[in-house]
Amino acid sequence: MKLFLDTAHLADLETAKGWGILEGVTTNPSLAAKEGLEFADLVKEITGLVPGPVSAEVTDETADGMVAQGKDLAAIAENVVVKVPMTREGVTAGSRLVEAGIPINVTLVFSPAQAILAARIGATFVSPFLGRVDDIGNDGLGLLRQIVEIYAVQGYETEVLSASLRHPQHVVESARIGADIATMPFAVMDKLFNHPLTDIGMERFAADWEAYQQALADKRS
Ligand code: E4P
Repeated sequence: MKLFLDTAHLADLETAKGWGILEGVTTNPSLAAKEGLEFADLVKEITGLVPGPVSAEVTDETADGMVAQGKDLAAIAENVVVKVPMTREGVTAGSRLVEAGIPINVTLVFSPAQAILAARIGATFVSPFLGRVDDIGNDGLGLLRQIVEIYAVQGYETEVLSASLRHPQHVVESARIGADIATMPFAVMDKLFNHPLTDIGMERFAADWEAYQQALADKRS
């Protein structure tokens, strides 16, 4: 399972890239709005920084408008993936973009039926929003399990991109279930490193090393 960041914040992308674990980026209009840059400029910056797929979302409400926006976004860089919403207009636009050779990510997916539609139009990615499903008291991981099962049985090539992840356990369970990609906020990726026994182990190694060096220094003098 690949790890993507769900952010448009360049400093966080640079940090994760430095860790050597960043394989792609997802953004959405709410994340872009936080950055205060022209959207095309922001997408240009992100695609230049991260070599993997960068999802950039259309905002028009009509299929024609989404196709035009999608073509403009795709022209920014080769690694742009156009994000279209799981609406009738979005699916119409998505299928036309796929026909034009432009990769798409179908977003705002909350049911297995919607995920089937995304696969049938040849989407590169389908994005079920686990956290938002949990937020309304339903089972986000259960949704992911059903989509992964259907895609395996049907042999669909669309990659399942587990999205709206709120904590490391969402990431771990997405991997167990068989998601192709997990996209997460920077705070969640940062938490993947954490374990108290690692911290205790580091402290103990440092203390033992210091004592060892001190003993050698005492012996030399
Ligand atoms: C994915 O592509 C979406 O941008 C994202 O995961 C939405 O997450 P949220 O529910 O935390 O806003």
